[in-house]
Amino acid sequence: MKTLIFYGSPHLHGDTAFLVETLQKGLPGEVTLVDAYRSKIAPCKDCRYCMDKTTCSIDDEMTAIYQTIVESDLIVIASPVYFGELTGPLLSLLSRLQIYFYAHFKRKESPIPDGKKGLILLSGGGSGAPDRAVATAKDIFRCINVNEILPPVIAGRTDTIPAREDQKAIEALAQNIRWLLQNQ
Ligand SMILES: Cc1cc2nc3c(=O)[nH]c(=O)nc-3n(C[C@H](O)[C@H](O)[C@H](O)COP(=O)(O)O)c2cc1C
Repeated sequence: MKTLIFYGSPHLHGDTAFLVETLQKGLPGEVTLVDAYRSKIAPCKDCRYCMDKTTCSIDDEMTAIYQTIVESDLIVIASPVYFGELTGPLLSLLSRLQIYFYAHFKRKESPIPDGKKGLILLSGGGSGAPDRAVATAKDIFRCINVNEILPPVIAGRTDTIPAREDQKAIEALAQNIRWLLQNQ
């Protein structure tokens, strides 16, 4: 089983990291983590190169990730909620998935095979609903042909209950892990 995690927290040991580590401990196989705050991946500059090309005009760390997307069985979007959304650096990185928007919706090509699963892991301090972040993550999954999206795991009251003590979130994550193990 191959898992690709897009990680959008500035903290290496915070709430989202706890959810990601718990997932990693529960899953077999290879995991690739793309860290939005620490990787060197430029944002999409809307140059339109990918309107008729299958690749991106920017050659950076994202070039290898495109191949990892194609090979992965599970793709995870993991982020704190900032102003109701995924964090800025994560959205910036994910903007590079625009190459698939043109491939799928304009050229009607299928560069990413069917059958991929998606999981959304969010942390929030309780100051705003995570619905927009969930909707954005689902939009991104649609763009990369991830059609089987598992129930989101949200540690949504980290102001009073850190993710590592949030039994509801921990159980929701455990349920997803059980399901993934049964449906590899
Ligand atoms: C700039 C900023 C904006 C935030 N906006 C929200 C929000 O809209 N809703 C919310 O529930 N929490 C919000 N938070 C709180 C974080 O999502 C929360 O502390 C989270 O647990 C941090 O996760 P991490 O430890 O993985 O970085 C915000 C925090 C920051 C720094």
